[in-house]
Amino acid sequence: MSKQAQAPLGGKKTVLGVSGGIAAYKSIDLARLLALDGAEVQTVLTESAASFVQPLPFEVLTGVTPIQRMFPVEGGGSTGDMPHVSLTDHADLIIIAPATANIIGKFAQGVGDDFLSTLLLSARPPALVAPAMNPRMWASPAVQENVSALRERGHVVMEPAAGRMARAEEGVGRGRMPEPGEILQAARAILVPNPDLSGMKVVVTAGPTRERWDAVRYLSNRSSGKMGFALAGEAARRGADAVLVSGPAVLADPPGVRVVRVESAAEMYEAVKREWTDANALVMAAAVADYRPVDPSARKRKKGDGPLAVELERTTDILAELSGDKGGRILVGFAAETEEVLERAKEKLIRKGMDFIVANRVSGDEDAMGADASRAWIIDESETEALPVLEKGVLAGRILDRLAKMWQNIST
Ligand code: CTP
Repeated sequence: MSKQAQAPLGGKKTVLGVSGGIAAYKSIDLARLLALDGAEVQTVLTESAASFVQPLPFEVLTGVTPIQRMFPVEGGGSTGDMPHVSLTDHADLIIIAPATANIIGKFAQGVGDDFLSTLLLSARPPALVAPAMNPRMWASPAVQENVSALRERGHVVMEPAAGRMARAEEGVGRGRMPEPGEILQAARAILVPNPDLSGMKVVVTAGPTRERWDAVRYLSNRSSGKMGFALAGEAARRGADAVLVSGPAVLADPPGVRVVRVESAAEMYEAVKREWTDANALVMAAAVADYRPVDPSARKRKKGDGPLAVELERTTDILAELSGDKGGRILVGFAAETEEVLERAKEKLIRKGMDFIVANRVSGDEDAMGADASRAWIIDESETEALPVLEKGVLAGRILDRLAKMWQNIST
């Protein structure tokens, strides 16, 4: 079936705000994809965007004249007396792509000095923001604080992509605008509620575990919990009764998810076992410690002069343990590997009796651990699906698409 025939965004009204950056040329493709998806697209170009792209391609692709200035308003169809306010009233979603550091700053701080920033002053969350800027600017505390402020207000700020920048001297780094297809997917996720996991209880684990050695020291790993939190939030959004069992992670509870916070692998095992009894699926995104100190001390240990050996013992392998009486339930695991990623993931899939496994690399440029985006492979008994580098929220959607398909097969 063609995208057009499905028209997933049929009848949805979108505003596409284009700010000034070299990535503005990619917004033409985004406008095309949105229109192909059935959406109405009102483009708004900032003055500096107009130095990078002409309004005509947007008009041809969407059938709507872009708005370029505050006064007088050209085009824009039913914009009424207060065009910026009436546009936000009527829009189902405002997308800013590319979003420069400047427009992100104005949006976060409430500055309205042109049409786009003024329109954002009355934007209801979530607006979808696709940043594009120099990696050093993206990493700057000012931009990061503005991004956090927008996210706290419920807006969706995508992670810029990592890779080579448009200007060679800017080198490689995280700052490129996400691809138009990814932005479209994020727009669909906001605009089209998809309750394909309703009736299902999905347990997700996230984060590292901490294995105490004494009163102040522990063994742990670099996992941030972002993948598991994204999965649990997405599962809830898609109608599942979502439970998140998380090791120590500094992330806020995803909306609609029941969160159980634990510390050690043993606590995670107990919590998962409890939730598993009436669950339909378990997604083990946590980086569970495989070993813990044999003899943890309640006191702080004092150092000696010589070397120190700490004896470790195995923790329970939660997945392997639960796959014993799996029944009709779905088990999903993750494999985080530095080499032979696919081979090792396949071996784990079989050894731990999973229905499918998500493999990530945890070394080099595409190190998934702690990152906001990652490249993954979804592997089951019969096939390996290679995904591009995706923001973890988008990746969560892909993983749950697979889960939903499996659930449909089981429940019909
Ligand atoms: N896992 C688990 N219980 C553990 C350790 C891991 O359920 N005690 C789960 C993880 O959540 C993940 C999968 O098993 O979904 C793979 O974990 P990983 O540690 O990479 O695999 P191991 O089998 O421990 O293999 P290795 O140590 O050889 O990498």
